[in-house]
Amino acid sequence: MHRTIEPAIQYWGTPVVLVSTLCEDGRVNVAPMSSAFWLGWTCMLGLDATSLTVANLERERSCVLNLASAANADAVNALALTTGAASVPLHKKLLGYRHEPDKLGVAGLSTLPSAVVPVPRIAECEVHLEAVVEKIRPFARGDARMAIPACSVELRIVQVHVEESLMLDADKVDPARWTPLIMSFRRLFARGAEVGPSRLARGDEAAYAPWKAGLARRTAARVLGAVAEVRYGIAEED
Ligand SMILES: Cc1cc2nc3c(=O)[nH]c(=O)nc-3n(C[C@H](O)[C@H](O)[C@H](O)COP(=O)(O)O)c2cc1C
Repeated sequence: MHRTIEPAIQYWGTPVVLVSTLCEDGRVNVAPMSSAFWLGWTCMLGLDATSLTVANLERERSCVLNLASAANADAVNALALTTGAASVPLHKKLLGYRHEPDKLGVAGLSTLPSAVVPVPRIAECEVHLEAVVEKIRPFARGDARMAIPACSVELRIVQVHVEESLMLDADKVDPARWTPLIMSFRRLFARGAEVGPSRLARGDEAAYAPWKAGLARRTAARVLGAVAEVRYGIAEED
């Protein structure tokens, strides 16, 4: 039996990402967030538009998505309810947020240089996705239950770094060893046990990466993609 409910939040369980960005004065800001998903090498973030992260992304156009695991839970908690923004917006004040200029220091995090973007990675995280900003759009403007100005940030991943103990072989992450930290209804969880075989996981993962195949498959994939774009491609709505 199902019940009709009106939950205060719709946080059903998504991975926690520590987004590192560069501030105007060159300092590193790091912010935990979890409204994130990936399709191909594109990532979409849902962000409170008042956060310093958004201002930094608008100006600098790049970031690193440092994916958190259970080992990073203390750092996530140290960063929770803080903002790098000098002026804390009223809705955040009411939720108990404070300004924290030294996010790395309070969370006990250190940095590593990135390969492509000027923003450093967080050494304590096992996965780093260097990314550039493709587009920032207003988000949920028609949603009467959205209490804050929000935006979606479309990012293109340009470099992936993974702790080598998580690798199956070259370019393949072992999902049995990678355990993302999940935020569900504001609480933090590590992933549970594998439930059984996955039909989606049948066949070679390489089928998802035609750009890595030989010339013939690469060309065929490009033609198929162009045909599908003509047939199914969606125009941007106003
Ligand atoms: C586990 C966790 C998940 C969060 N998820 C999001 C999120 O998806 N989107 C968002 O805008 N804020 C999220 N927040 C709140 C941000 O951390 C908060 O807006 C913070 O002030 C941003 O920091 P900044 O202003 O320095 O960029 C989350 C916080 C925590 C602790």
